[in-house]
Amino acid sequence: MANDTITLTNNNDGRSAEFSLRSGTEGPDALDISSLYKDMGVFTYDPGFVSTASCHSSITYIDGDEGILRYRGYPIEQLAENSNFLEVAYLLLYGELPNAVQQAEFHGIIRYHTMIKETLKNFFDGFHYDAHPMGVMVGVVGSLSAFYHDSLDINNPRHREISAHRLIAKMPTIAAASFKHNIGEPFMYPRNDLDYCANFLHMMFATPCEDYEPDPIAIKAINLLFILHADHEQNASTSTVRLSSSSQANPFACIAAGIASLWGPAHGGANEAVLDMLQEIGDASQIEKYIAKVKDKDDPFRLMGFGHRVYKNFDPRATIIRKVCHEVLNNLADSNNPLFELALKLEEVALEDEYFIERKLYPNVDFYSGIIYRALGIPNNMFTVMFAIARTVGWVAHWMEMMADPHQRIGRPRQIYTGASERDYMPLDQR
Ligand code: CMC
Repeated sequence: MANDTITLTNNNDGRSAEFSLRSGTEGPDALDISSLYKDMGVFTYDPGFVSTASCHSSITYIDGDEGILRYRGYPIEQLAENSNFLEVAYLLLYGELPNAVQQAEFHGIIRYHTMIKETLKNFFDGFHYDAHPMGVMVGVVGSLSAFYHDSLDINNPRHREISAHRLIAKMPTIAAASFKHNIGEPFMYPRNDLDYCANFLHMMFATPCEDYEPDPIAIKAINLLFILHADHEQNASTSTVRLSSSSQANPFACIAAGIASLWGPAHGGANEAVLDMLQEIGDASQIEKYIAKVKDKDDPFRLMGFGHRVYKNFDPRATIIRKVCHEVLNNLADSNNPLFELALKLEEVALEDEYFIERKLYPNVDFYSGIIYRALGIPNNMFTVMFAIARTVGWVAHWMEMMADPHQRIGRPRQIYTGASERDYMPLDQR
């Protein structure tokens, strides 16, 4: 913690108090105002938490001005180049890269938990065939709360770890089942001889009548996208998981809350929205029209996959994905290059436009991810589900970190009340 303090004075009543600055290992200091109300009788007001740190965390570091993203200190570029998703999952959960023994053990544990209860499958029947898979995910993941009473003591670190493993392992199984339900095909059991991403592709694309050999290019691409999506510090869905868990609710319900938050188009839902937008734009001749729509104050249209609360220079994940997009599309026979070409052109036009330059709006992770997923045969309505599978690792890592923190308290923001002052109840005949 820094020794520096800041003294605040309330000019209305003359009250004055000193507040200390807290330093992390990197990043700006934070003014500790936890005693502000007690000392000064006022709250802070920061809608959208633009200037508010909600916790200490040692999982992920972002420098938005420099375009830096690190998991547990490791640059995202190095992890994307050299690691695999389950190794990154281990890193995020336990803080260190696993050695060979730890890696084998972790893979074994995750494999062991890939199946879902047969009765859980009945939940899918409650959804109409065309239910959005994210809606199905919110419901089915939340319902896991009712299945695993053997590990629901959130004060027991071992129980927490088992729940974390179950969530990471079962998420691809539930995600693939939500897709199969959508297209009316039978669910596929997991194949525990396959690695995490290959097994997911098997559950998505194999049928009981026909085996499916996952394409190594597809496995590599999914691995990479999952690594890039695995964590992003205190984003909306992770903060939702933290806030809901702060009441000591069970982890499955809290991850369902995270999935619900992720679904929004301002967050993870953007990857689906980008593809919808590109399809709507259609071809490069229409770009100017859509850029004009962005600038029209009366038009709510935004360029999906552009802008970020933290990144004000570039999103390092987008840089990696753009490069991989080229590789994947060049290697896949069923590539859909016209949409990628359109996306590249749109990016070029936007980055030269004063509106985007002034506001520091750049392509984010979601601008290109959907193009890769689509080339792999994954439909638009599954893109955010893919994000949810990967982000589950970040959610459970934050949940484990938070639950182990002795200073953890229920999250309970205050408000500036703007409603009516006290008034007396009027009987119905006098209103
Ligand atoms: N297209 C056009 N204008 C934009 C966009 C955009 N995508 N994003 C922000 N702006 C403008 C916005 O209208 C505002 O302009 P003005 O100052 O004239 O009112 C200014 O830029 C600041 O925007 P903001 O909404 O105050 O910024 P924010 O930090 O609250 O929102 C955001 C961040 C990501 C929600 C927003 O940029 C956005 O809606 N982007 C499109 C959706 C998207 O791609 N989301 C994915 C984010 S990355 C994946 C993840 O969430 O993990």
